[in-house]
Amino acid sequence: MANRINPSILAADFANFESELGRIRTADLVHVDIMDNHFVPNLTFGLGMVERLQQVSPLPLDIHLMIDDPERWAPGYAEAGAFSVTFHAEATTEPVALARRLRQIGARAGIALKPGTDVTPYLELLPEFDQVLVMTVEPGFGGQSFMESTMPKLAQLRAKVQGSDLDLWLQVDGGITEQTIQIAAAAGADTFVAGSSVFGADNPAAQIALLRERAASHRHGAGNLES
Ligand code: DX5
Ligand code: ZN
Repeated sequence: MANRINPSILAADFANFESELGRIRTADLVHVDIMDNHFVPNLTFGLGMVERLQQVSPLPLDIHLMIDDPERWAPGYAEAGAFSVTFHAEATTEPVALARRLRQIGARAGIALKPGTDVTPYLELLPEFDQVLVMTVEPGFGGQSFMESTMPKLAQLRAKVQGSDLDLWLQVDGGITEQTIQIAAAAGADTFVAGSSVFGADNPAAQIALLRERAASHRHGAGNLES
């Protein structure tokens, strides 16, 4: 099971995105937080910004839509060439239809769950998705503390994926550090978003390497014959 480290540019220098992207070349994808000041009480970037990032980024884009009305907006991000587009379960009543549209356009389709949202209703829908994002903070702001109370959801998801032929990435986002990544990896996550811990480091490449190493050594099933 490969681990992925996706730095969040919410913690980057907004005046210098191109050079900030250069500091995280050893990462897997670039996590881009889209907030609309409706679904969450904060406002970040929109489609025009992502179209430009897509042109200059050496890494594929992992779009996290914290917006109302994802049916209206999400397909545009896929059309812009984003590798992965994740919308929130709480923002739509038709998650499967939207995921199918995203896949049809050519993006991986992700569904995100706020800390208080139960994963159980989605467990039977997993073949429709390429990623489940288990939020480990309340969405809206970087720099918050990891909520360990969300880990049972990862265990439920990992149990479904294990032994199946699903190609489903299990992502965590919020408060991921070299300490908390161990907890999330052991619970079953394989894709880790990290904002402040990467961009706040003196040496982001060294921090990415450390996160990768900690995720690998604590990954679900480590210490036995599972892979
Ligand atoms: C929070 C965002 C996160 C945020 C994580 O709503 O979805 O992606 O950038 O930032 P850190 O790693 O600082 O918690
Ligand atoms: Zn995010």
